Amino acid sequence: MTLATLSEVLTPALREGYAVAGVVCLGWEDARAYAAAAEAEGLPIILQAGPGARAHMPIPVWARMLRHLAEAATVPVVVHLDHGKSLEDCRVAIGEGFSSVMYDGSLDPLDRNIADMARIVEMAHAAGVSCEGEVGVVGYDGGAASHGTDPQDARRFAVETGVDALAVSVGNVHLQTGPGAGLDRAKIAAIEAATSPLPLVIHGGSGVPQADRTALARETAICKFNIGTELRQTFGAALRQTLAAHPTAFDRIEILRATEAPLETAARKVLRGLRP
Ligand code: 13P
Repeated sequence: MTLATLSEVLTPALREGYAVAGVVCLGWEDARAYAAAAEAEGLPIILQAGPGARAHMPIPVWARMLRHLAEAATVPVVVHLDHGKSLEDCRVAIGEGFSSVMYDGSLDPLDRNIADMARIVEMAHAAGVSCEGEVGVVGYDGGAASHGTDPQDARRFAVETGVDALAVSVGNVHLQTGPGAGLDRAKIAAIEAATSPLPLVIHGGSGVPQADRTALARETAICKFNIGTELRQTFGAALRQTLAAHPTAFDRIEILRATEAPLETAARKVLRGLRP
């Protein structure tokens, strides 16, 4: 059994200068492929169930499925709630067996975000569960705008909540299907100086080119990159290819299983890129 908390994988990452992938899981085939990729690379991984996944499948099912993969692995696997929207979301996830929860109060005023996060950290830590919070707003490609993280806000948040990892807005944007404009190194350094030794998290990791991820993992306190879109593009391409090659295929298992090998290959590349 290698179920791990976020702290258990991010503390050595920060110390040794690498980062861990937080991969967006939407079903059994992708989650299994990501766990297999981590196993094949001998590296830790964070399997995440975000709002879309939870709208599609009940959280108790996610908890059991991801814990099953963690328990079968020999590498550390974190079972992580991504973008919990309330204390109740986090309480339910902890009760179902998630080993890590992210609370996203980034759209609330800072005082409210801090107060809510502090209550969640207290509840989570009492259960042996890690917590990630967010200060500043990470926007969406073609959607909601970003609001950069203020280093002093980040410091207050870190000190007053006792959170284990902090998601920051430094030029990163969710759902980019190609390289973005690049991350703001000066802002990252300022946040790091204000929050050290807190591990930092980049949401919207798909928009950060692999070479930049490698450098940031080695040179900054960024210890976790959330990667969704990039791998979902691999899934879509594999699915289309399978259906085109087998126009009469109708068996769900057969069709979806064909996505696992390409997903595992793509995830292995992502994982290797974070471990310079
Ligand atoms: P991308 O889909 O842009 O990689 O972002 C994933 C993410 O940040 C999930 O929280």
